[in-house]
Amino acid sequence: MQNSPKRFTITAALPYTNGPVHIGHLAGVYVPADIYSRFQRLQGNDVAFVCGSDEHGVPITIKAKKEGITPQQVVDKYHAIIKESFQEFGITFDNYSRTSEKIHHDTASNFFKKLYDDGKFIEQTTEQFYDQEANQFLADRFIIGTCPKCGFVESYGDQCESCGTSHNATDLINPKSSITGNTPALKETKHWFLPLDQYESWLKEWIVKGHKKDWKSNVYGQCKSWIDDGLRPRAVTRDLDWGIPVPIEGADNKVLYVWFDAPIGYISATKEWAENIGKDWEPYWKDEDTKMLHFIGKDNIVFHCIIFPSMLKAEGSFILPENVPANEFLNLEGNKISTSKNWAVWLHEYLLDFPNQQDVLRYVLTANAPETKDNDFTWADFQARNNNELVAIFGNFINRVVVLTNKYYNGIVPKPPSLSEVDLKILSELKAYPNVIESSLERYRFREAQAELMNVARLGNKYLADEEPWKKIKTDEERTKAIMYVSIQIAEALAILSEPFLPFTSTKLKTMLCHSELNSESTWKDVSTKDVLIPSSHRIGKGELLFSKIEDKKVQQQLDKLEATKKENTVINKNPEPQKQTIQFDDFSKLDMRVGTILEAKKMAKTKKLLILKVDTGIDVRTIVSGIAESFSPEEVVGKKVTVLVNLAPRALRGVDSEGMILMTETPDGKLVFLNPDDEKVYNGAPIS
Ligand code: MF3
Ligand code: ZN
Repeated sequence: MQNSPKRFTITAALPYTNGPVHIGHLAGVYVPADIYSRFQRLQGNDVAFVCGSDEHGVPITIKAKKEGITPQQVVDKYHAIIKESFQEFGITFDNYSRTSEKIHHDTASNFFKKLYDDGKFIEQTTEQFYDQEANQFLADRFIIGTCPKCGFVESYGDQCESCGTSHNATDLINPKSSITGNTPALKETKHWFLPLDQYESWLKEWIVKGHKKDWKSNVYGQCKSWIDDGLRPRAVTRDLDWGIPVPIEGADNKVLYVWFDAPIGYISATKEWAENIGKDWEPYWKDEDTKMLHFIGKDNIVFHCIIFPSMLKAEGSFILPENVPANEFLNLEGNKISTSKNWAVWLHEYLLDFPNQQDVLRYVLTANAPETKDNDFTWADFQARNNNELVAIFGNFINRVVVLTNKYYNGIVPKPPSLSEVDLKILSELKAYPNVIESSLERYRFREAQAELMNVARLGNKYLADEEPWKKIKTDEERTKAIMYVSIQIAEALAILSEPFLPFTSTKLKTMLCHSELNSESTWKDVSTKDVLIPSSHRIGKGELLFSKIEDKKVQQQLDKLEATKKENTVINKNPEPQKQTIQFDDFSKLDMRVGTILEAKKMAKTKKLLILKVDTGIDVRTIVSGIAESFSPEEVVGKKVTVLVNLAPRALRGVDSEGMILMTETPDGKLVFLNPDDEKVYNGAPIS
């Protein structure tokens, strides 16, 4: 019995159009979203899988400034690269739109207007940071200071990249303009705020008391902590000249906050898609029967679980997401992926370097998907997974089946005289896989689902190894027929079940098995119900290698590329910051710096950067909280002699009083090291702080 089809609206975070897409984006968002969408389509469900370029926001204006071009030129360039590479990579968006489209400007404007007319905003004149030298209000991204939550010293005005918390720029401790380095002044400006505090109890009901406990624990945990901390009104407009103009009187030179307009981009993309194919978009956003899912990275959780739902609730006619399966981050060769440092594997470059090997990258990214914790991509692992898994297991099985069927039977699927107990057991094991994979996918466990797919290939490989048709053909032709018949059923199951994960392989395999000649193609469900997937006397095609070995040389080229990036970054970093303002000797002599020894060290709970140290300063033994945990483990620093600024005013960091500062400097790749100018890794001009 066929269940009636369900309607799905599946969104994937709109990528910022200030750079191309890299493996971190793919592993965290686009590959799982695509697997899920393909899978739901295979179930016969009605899927709208939408995405598009996020073309507003300050990072784009920063990029434009840097490159000496207009923001429009920046987004045009990257939109084209991103869109094309997604397509070539087999990401099956039903629509990939962009937020500069008229349909989006209209949709976002109207959304704002409706909330405005319904009195959902509060209007507030507040003091915003203003850089008097640069003569402009400072967008959050142009303000850097210490995160009030975790103490990370380079938090942006809107969000801390260390702990993921998002806040208002005025919450930062010691804010600085990143345009001029000055401490910004406060200046009055009027903005519209969404009073999130008014949605707090509703959100609590929806997320905490509602049925959202089945959300991934990282997502649920972040939401709960947000709500428990108490929500405050958030400005949804900005003083900026790049974005969607605020569509009301008296809002000159103001645009919608990018995080207000971008998620509405999902709606615009759905509308545009529906218009193009003559469908009604509204059920995809307004019908309670529709399952809406947002695929995102962890830095987007608050926007998709708190702010956007509050916007939708305020509007009143929209459904809310059923789930927000956010992933953690993927690192590259042990370091955080960084667009600005060019520390990434870029999708468009991968496609050039590894032509027709989309599935290898899809496979490796899913096998290492950062589902519950950050994960690392290495080229050695990429090569090993290709050679030892795709080639040696999946490819090897298919190759043997196709080659032997051609050799023994001219490609015609033999009729088994009878099936042995082993054969029947294998066929019944095979039938269990669609449900097993399905149940992992329904829980957004993509790694697990793909591992089960590989188990189908393992099943086939083991069966062949045990039954040895290449030997039996000499002694027992009838038995060999049964073995090959069963093997072909397994190959067919692989062709069907691999489609969401390895779509290019699936297509190749279907061609090899001559799907187009079958009277009826088997479906996902058929794999668990039908006894025969490919009937005897069907003729299959010739073998073709599904995967090929990746040689050391190829991997070395990629490693060399990264090494070159490291070198480049060194050169860039060796351009030291300009010298600060002149000080008098008196200023200097105020600093009291002493040699000390670290006696104890432990990690500050729930932070990434902070270590709590006990330091013997010679004067006393005191506690110092230091933001070095990403460069050192506690064990590494115990016993180290360090330079301590001892008369820095004590300050509480996460509830621990820190009495002083350990002076550090850095290597070109940004790793902190203890002050030792003789350290050859340290470069001239490296800051001491
Ligand atoms: N551009 C954002 C990012 O890359 C994601 C935007 S998602 C949307 O982090 F919901 F706003 F569209
Ligand atoms: Zn923080």
